[in-house]
Amino acid sequence: MFRRSLTLAGRGLAASRSRTLSSLSFLSEDHAKVYDHSTNDPERFWGDLARERIDWHQPFNTAMNCDMNAGKIRWFEGGKLNVCENVVDRHARLDPNRIAFIWEKDEPGDVERVSYGDLLESACRIGNALRARGIQRGDRVAIYMPVSPLAAASMLACARIGAVHSVVFAGFSAEALRNRIRDAEAKAVITADEGVRGGKRIPLKSIVDAALDDGACPTVGDVFVMTRTGSDVKMMHPRDVKLEEAMSEQPPTCPAESMDSEDLLYLLYTSGSTGRPKGIAHTQAGYLLYTGVTHQNAFDVRSGDIFACVADIGWITGHSHALYGPLFNGVTSVLFESVPTYPNPGRYWEMVQRLRVTQIYTAPTALRLLIKSGDSHVRKYDRSSLRILGCVGEPLNVEAWHWYHTVVGERRCTVVDTWWQTETGGIMLSPRPAPTGTQPKPGFPMLPFPGIRPLLVDSNGAEIVGNDVSGLLCIRGAWPGMARTIYGDHERFLNTYFRPYPGLYFTGDGAYRDVDGHYRITGRVDDVINVKGHRLGTAEVESALDEHPDVAEAAVVGFPHEVYGEGIYAYVILKDTFAPAGTMDDIVKSMKGIVKSKIGSFAVPEIVLVTPGLPKTRSGKIMRRILRKVAANQTDDLGDVSTLADPAVVEEIKSRHVELMKEREYAYGRKE
Ligand code: WT7
Repeated sequence: MFRRSLTLAGRGLAASRSRTLSSLSFLSEDHAKVYDHSTNDPERFWGDLARERIDWHQPFNTAMNCDMNAGKIRWFEGGKLNVCENVVDRHARLDPNRIAFIWEKDEPGDVERVSYGDLLESACRIGNALRARGIQRGDRVAIYMPVSPLAAASMLACARIGAVHSVVFAGFSAEALRNRIRDAEAKAVITADEGVRGGKRIPLKSIVDAALDDGACPTVGDVFVMTRTGSDVKMMHPRDVKLEEAMSEQPPTCPAESMDSEDLLYLLYTSGSTGRPKGIAHTQAGYLLYTGVTHQNAFDVRSGDIFACVADIGWITGHSHALYGPLFNGVTSVLFESVPTYPNPGRYWEMVQRLRVTQIYTAPTALRLLIKSGDSHVRKYDRSSLRILGCVGEPLNVEAWHWYHTVVGERRCTVVDTWWQTETGGIMLSPRPAPTGTQPKPGFPMLPFPGIRPLLVDSNGAEIVGNDVSGLLCIRGAWPGMARTIYGDHERFLNTYFRPYPGLYFTGDGAYRDVDGHYRITGRVDDVINVKGHRLGTAEVESALDEHPDVAEAAVVGFPHEVYGEGIYAYVILKDTFAPAGTMDDIVKSMKGIVKSKIGSFAVPEIVLVTPGLPKTRSGKIMRRILRKVAANQTDDLGDVSTLADPAVVEEIKSRHVELMKEREYAYGRKE
């Protein structure tokens, strides 16, 4: 039972090392007792876990020192540790041949296995190479790489020498990469010659060159280039160096920096409701513990498991569930370089069969895409190794839940729909762990993880009590994995998460709590949208469009999309001076092009509607509510438009929308 953690506290690390993973799990314990203890005495609960699960150089003094009103979050102060040692060295020491990563490259069956011993050596060599080039504790390093063992080793190398990694998803454009490098003032970039996804090559090194062009990023002194395809890339001396060559010049061991619990571990940029992405900052011990413990308990992780998180390492899911979580728990993590439909929609399940995957963790948008391709792509492969089917990123609709459960999981596997955010560091709501006998409920992430106290509030911040109610989802009390700041902008951190409802963490999501007290997420309540599992600020897309020479003003909203979750709909007003140089199709194409170059192709609006005006209040505020309704085809239900400065503009927008939809239908009809 949960007292186990209390009795073991203080017995030291020898005890914890000799125990098996499952004896460290909450799953066999009385859930109500664990949960009550975790929320009544979080300091004790997390403090005991931290003593038990982390190898410390120096023990911490205070488990918890948090003030939610002030947005001051500190865990395990006084403690010293190294995260890389905790996720690699401890396993390499016990069993260097145990497999840390199975790299499933873009071509099915093109696989490389990396043992914990090999991984330790790579992380050490990269750590030494970074140090040799003057990268020190606290310096930021941007990583713009394909999902690969060397990308993971680069992240771990940073952790080892105390540098702060900032992984930028290798689908972002040069300009988006540049903005992130500049905001973090990164001293080095680690990239690859090219990326390969779904059979297509992505010229990563030249994108990095473009990002750094013309001295745009004066802090960057070094660029390390991993060889992925071996294509001939331009190397600029002395700035650029081949990663593998730099590694081979270094010794295979590297002293690990002794980090304070609250030193930065990494930055990860994510979208908010204004144009500028925010560098979410995570620190060492709290993140490590929270990620490790949630990964283990939500997915019932046992020794020998082969865990496949198919998310890119450029997102938080990849950080916590392809890298830190599985390695902390000493299991094997599949690094998936490809996409769910390459070379065909059976890819996931063929891989599951070949690698004997025990847990798969994917996104609803991928499932919906696969559902469309039919069940035969699933059924022809043996999925008997699977126990848990995980999902994250957006609401898992009931239909997709049932498909996952029956077709993929043969009603044998547990579907675990996890709700969390880049800012939370780890899983917050999940059907597991749960009281014995609790059945997962389609469409519901359901239950708070031990130590997490969710609540619903109304727009005045008053708590909505009872069940069968909806409201804004907040969290009361701190947890170890939560973000500590927005890099370089603590005010924005406070304004976004702590000031809206004082004393609480505000998630930006709405939620419903059903009669059983189980949570379902109803979606974002701010101007953040979720497209194909990618989080985007509508303001980011707007500011990209605004830079188009013909655009006077743009307003972007999300609309329900049957596969992508949400699609992007842009309303655009052209400048008065606009003189058509081509057809309207050409203009729209060039607008889409600008979004691709400013952010990345995943942010390109599916629909662009050119309009003479936007619905604005007399004070000039765009009424997005109306734009969302039109985009969702709910033109008969626009609500009160009497406060608009020019109500006629709504009629114009409606008729243009209807027209555009007809044209699209016609175009699609022709294609089929
Ligand atoms: C937003 C966070 C955490 C990893 C992936 C996304 C939405 C996430 C769920 C879920 C409904 C979900 C929320 C959240 N979201 N998981 N299981 N059900 N919505 O991380 O990019 O930081 O996005 O994703 O809206 O706020 P992220």
